[in-house]
Amino acid sequence: MAREEHEILEFLESVGACDVADGLSQINHEHGGYLEGIIMYSPEFQGGDTKVVGRAFTVKFVSSRETELPKLPGNYIDMVPPDLRGVDTHGANRIPSYIERIRHKILDPTATPELTQVTPVAASVDAKNGFGFVAAHLGMTKAVEMAKEFGIGLVSVKHSNHYGMAAWIVQQAIDSGMMALVFTNSSAAQPVWGGREKRMGVSPLACGAPAQNDSRPFILDMAPSIAARGKIYKALRRGEKIPGDWALDGEGKPTTDPSSALEGVMLPMGGPKGSALSIMMDVFSGVFSGSAFAGHVGGPYDFTKPADVGHFFVAIKPDLFMTLSDFKSRMEYLYQRVVTSEKMAGVDQIYFPGEIELINKEKRLAEGIPFTEAEIASMNKEAELAGVEGMKYT
Ligand SMILES: NC(=O)c1ccc[n+]([C@@H]2O[C@H](COP(=O)([O-])OP(=O)(O)OC[C@H]3O[C@@H](n4cnc5c(N)ncnc54)[C@H](O)[C@@H]3O)[C@@H](O)[C@H]2O)c1
Repeated sequence: MAREEHEILEFLESVGACDVADGLSQINHEHGGYLEGIIMYSPEFQGGDTKVVGRAFTVKFVSSRETELPKLPGNYIDMVPPDLRGVDTHGANRIPSYIERIRHKILDPTATPELTQVTPVAASVDAKNGFGFVAAHLGMTKAVEMAKEFGIGLVSVKHSNHYGMAAWIVQQAIDSGMMALVFTNSSAAQPVWGGREKRMGVSPLACGAPAQNDSRPFILDMAPSIAARGKIYKALRRGEKIPGDWALDGEGKPTTDPSSALEGVMLPMGGPKGSALSIMMDVFSGVFSGSAFAGHVGGPYDFTKPADVGHFFVAIKPDLFMTLSDFKSRMEYLYQRVVTSEKMAGVDQIYFPGEIELINKEKRLAEGIPFTEAEIASMNKEAELAGVEGMKYT
């Protein structure tokens, strides 16, 4: 028997999952559907296998009683913040591929990551092939704790999985008043400069710092390719072409076709510099941690082996060298200097890193997240397999 809607809402509220106001209206959209009301929920969401539940903007993995996902408030992984921020490539539409990994038994959703204190300011996490989200959350929590006491905390994570949009881990540190560096490696998708075969991951470099105005912290979260590979998957799902400078096909030629691009390589941004940044992510996240590296991380759509991703996090106390108020007013000065710069021809507005995503978030909180029919169909297939109600769209 499916639970009543109000029971599910009460449950989600009790675990802090319902952070978005009720009443998302049904809005038609030329490209597909908007979320409305309850979109996915499990009739038995506290028992049985991993389930997908959700309401309005919230789509969650919820673990079974026996296998509670550790260290995350409410035992859920929130897949929606990327969609809210406009990072559609790394949000709810990744749920099917994560579940497929669980089905192939190459990702263990029940794993409890193991934390080891190495020095007063350094710790390591063995993710035990569990969700990257869980290990990363634990890692940054520990890094913040050390930074609060000693000014800095660094955490190396091994045997992990894809953690989606890196900005959420930066935000976690900022929410605790810390600056952060957030690195990961990833499966080979990019050539080294001068090469044409996949050797390095399109591994995002992310960092951030709190600001005087809490609503506009500095958050840089960038893949070292011209475009993130997720944008190719998104174009494929949407039946769209990609710009000709994003990728080479399997024969080393530029292509605008997303499926040919997925057979080839993503091009690094800035030539040798983007290539070097992805090697940097591999040094700090792969070589240093004991995880796979040098092109051996398993891909998110390779269901034959565990991914063995490595991460590296640093949390830093912003008031190490001056008072917090001085730091924040200097951040505000920097913000103003950036956004008030004289604009080049054709530019209407200058943004601070992370600002566009916050503007997207405000808009999508008000209007909904535009998913395409194909994306909704793919998530609904999982909902059906999990025996829960699918997402509705107009
Ligand atoms: N976990 C993984 O393995 C993995 C791999 C690749 C990408 N990703 C994720 O994919 C996402 C997309 O990465 P991306 O490189 O395509 O991002 P992007 O190019 O959209 O943005 C990169 C950065 O530039 C800033 N920015 C963008 N336009 C701007 C403008 N006009 N003015 C000022 N700043 C601007 C953004 O705020 C952001 O910090 C990221 O969240 C990343 O973490 C994850």
